[in-house]
Amino acid sequence: MTSASPIRVLIVDDVPESRDNIERLLRFEPDIQVVGKASRGQEGIDLAVRLQPTVVLMDMTLPDMDGVKATMEITAQAPGSAVIMLSVQSDPELLRQAMLAGAREFLVKPFRFEELIEAVRRVAQLARPIPVAPAAATAGAPAVEAGRPDRDTSVIAVLGTKGGVGRTFLATNLAIALRQRTGKRVTLVDADLAFGDVAVLMNVTKAKTWVDVAQLGSSLDAEVLGEILTEHSSGIQLLLAPFKPQDAEIVTPEHFQMAMSCLRRMADFVVIDTRPGFDELMLAVMDSADCLLYVLTMEMTAIKDARQFLEVAELLGYRNKRLFLVLNRMNTYSGIPVADIEENLKQELVVRIPDDPAPVLRSINEGTPFIDMVPEHRISAEITRLAGILADQEAPVPVSQPREGRRRAFPWPRLGRRPV
Ligand SMILES: Nc1ncnc2c1ncn2[C@@H]1O[C@H](COP(=O)(O)OP(=O)(O)OP(=O)(O)O)[C@@H](O)[C@H]1O
Ligand SMILES: [Mg+2]
Repeated sequence: MTSASPIRVLIVDDVPESRDNIERLLRFEPDIQVVGKASRGQEGIDLAVRLQPTVVLMDMTLPDMDGVKATMEITAQAPGSAVIMLSVQSDPELLRQAMLAGAREFLVKPFRFEELIEAVRRVAQLARPIPVAPAAATAGAPAVEAGRPDRDTSVIAVLGTKGGVGRTFLATNLAIALRQRTGKRVTLVDADLAFGDVAVLMNVTKAKTWVDVAQLGSSLDAEVLGEILTEHSSGIQLLLAPFKPQDAEIVTPEHFQMAMSCLRRMADFVVIDTRPGFDELMLAVMDSADCLLYVLTMEMTAIKDARQFLEVAELLGYRNKRLFLVLNRMNTYSGIPVADIEENLKQELVVRIPDDPAPVLRSINEGTPFIDMVPEHRISAEITRLAGILADQEAPVPVSQPREGRRRAFPWPRLGRRPV
């Protein structure tokens, strides 16, 4: 934050000592400037409209109206100002009301000075336009419609029991492809809670995350979840992983289930990026999914993991779900023919995403989704075809190898390796 653009703060609190204490603390921060103080709700609203502060620190209890009502007015009349609610109570219902009123943060009194400063800086960032990938075509989807009855939502989990196979790359681009192909509501959920990369690939640096979902607990509903989702310029909504790995611990499988039941009323497609393993959260993810996309590469270890996954999926009763194997980084140098992998897994590789490290790396490093950066690329075409299959617009036939006349050259379970 530069001194050229200080964060302008308005304090609304009826207790003079509280106002003065907060002002005294903030005075030492070079990037923060207290521009006004109010002791009543209406006075706070009037000052917010006149001064247009970056951040409003709003006490929950005021003499003429409660902080929720004042926040609602400020959100409507001074939408450029972000409100941080301050309350002595940490009641989830209060937090829910505050968020619905438009508050960006909720601090429970007494709070540490660092907490306050951190929150002020965080919401100041949010008050500015959320940095999203540049110039992706937004097709003008209607905003998330909260609270409508259950719709025919398709939940797609992108899985892989080996790290680094391309789950996040596929999940992000598939979500955008679904949006582009169908024009429907798509939410991308990052369920790799400790080390999720969706925010990086979508170029989002500050946003609400699963932590906000966990804090709401059973007060979560579709309306308030709509406030937590981040809108990306492609038109899809994001439910992001915490920015600090240690915060992942507070998110439980129950939180995930509650969020999913809301999302089923809010979105047509939910794409979930995951982490390797069969822990409680991943089981909740797979239970919730209608379709499982298992990503593997042309590596012996990834193929072995895929075989084991198929066995476990069978045991868990997941084989009644739509299940597609997605071969990522398909190439001609691995030494293992595609047909041998299929033979080994006793399953077709319906989706085959080519390997092309240079543009993929560039799209990740730039934070521009690949499908927007190079829409004509073979990788984009294959992910778009997958979106068509998932939206039931296209038959699931491997694009580069028609079903008839496919080679079945090697006896099971031979897998590419030549005898030595
Ligand atoms: N089709 C592809 N062609 C070339 N490189 C690719 C392709 N897909 C993914 N990659 C590369 O693989 C790396 C891992 O991708 P990604 O982060 O999506 O994997 P992941 O399975 O989500 O990994 P993690 O275990 O870290 O969650 C990326 O850095 C990307 O450069
Ligand atoms: Mg990942």
